[in-house]
Amino acid sequence: MDTLKSAIRKRRSVRTFKKRPFAEKDRRELDQLMDKASSIEGPFGHKVHTIAFVEQSDKKAERIGTYGFIKHAPGFIAGVTTNTHEHLLDYGYVFEMLTLWLTERNYGTVWLGGTFKRSRFKKLLSNDDDFIPAVLGVGYAHEKHSLRDTVIRKAARADDRKPFDTLFFEFPSMQGIDRRDHPKLAKVLDMVRAAPSASNRQPWRIFLQKNTLHVYMKYDEKYNEKLSYDIQYIDMGIALSHLEIGLKTHDFTFRRESKAPSMSEPSYTYIISYKVKRHKH
Ligand SMILES: Cc1cc2nc3c(=O)[nH]c(=O)nc-3n(C[C@H](O)[C@H](O)[C@H](O)COP(=O)(O)O)c2cc1C
Repeated sequence: MDTLKSAIRKRRSVRTFKKRPFAEKDRRELDQLMDKASSIEGPFGHKVHTIAFVEQSDKKAERIGTYGFIKHAPGFIAGVTTNTHEHLLDYGYVFEMLTLWLTERNYGTVWLGGTFKRSRFKKLLSNDDDFIPAVLGVGYAHEKHSLRDTVIRKAARADDRKPFDTLFFEFPSMQGIDRRDHPKLAKVLDMVRAAPSASNRQPWRIFLQKNTLHVYMKYDEKYNEKLSYDIQYIDMGIALSHLEIGLKTHDFTFRRESKAPSMSEPSYTYIISYKVKRHKH
């Protein structure tokens, strides 16, 4: 768990890769990690099936990342799920675990949710309701961030996150959590705060009620509409993986439950609650 904690700290979206294919032994390692990812379930009990690596050449016609934002990625990892909210959540969770395992091993990754060529992944689909919501660019990160990365990072405000006390609240007072009141839990929530999200929108909101964390999503209808599926559920699944890793690293045990408190904020959608307990050494 501690290495996953440092992977969370280390991970950044990589958009410029070294211009070289995977070494054979690294391809094998990739296969092992993809197998491992197919074996785990998200918090709502769904696995991702048919996780596969699709190579791309640098030829323009074959590029997977569109608009040329992603440079020289040797390939992309895709998985197959169904387009329901719970499946999207679990896809986010499983693929973020995979991202962190790849980060631990020093591969560069980038999530692509909207801007990728779906036709290149058609061969992975076999049923009518099979759906690939997002893919992961993967490769060897270029040491120096190119100017292009810097510009995109600025545009996406990638380096900043919303202030802690505008994401995490006490319930029912709705006051932002004061980290001094909950120093250990604040460290866990910092790990949620570091999670990647589509356009860096950070839709997660967490409410602490005694020893329970209620997780909500600040849903943006216009944004999701634009993308033809509810991408913010992927973001929420990603956030849940960071939350669970955070709880485990900081000696909390937890139980997931579905017990929404009564909340009068219409733009917040309830996702799940975690009843937590801290085990001091
Ligand atoms: C579901 C999802 C979809 C994303 N889609 C794209 C994309 O299409 N193109 C892109 O350049 N970055 C994409 N990103 C990366 C985000 O812009 C990035 O995670 C965010 O700005 C935070 O930066 P960081 O990952 O460096 O911490 C996506 C991220 C997520 C979680």
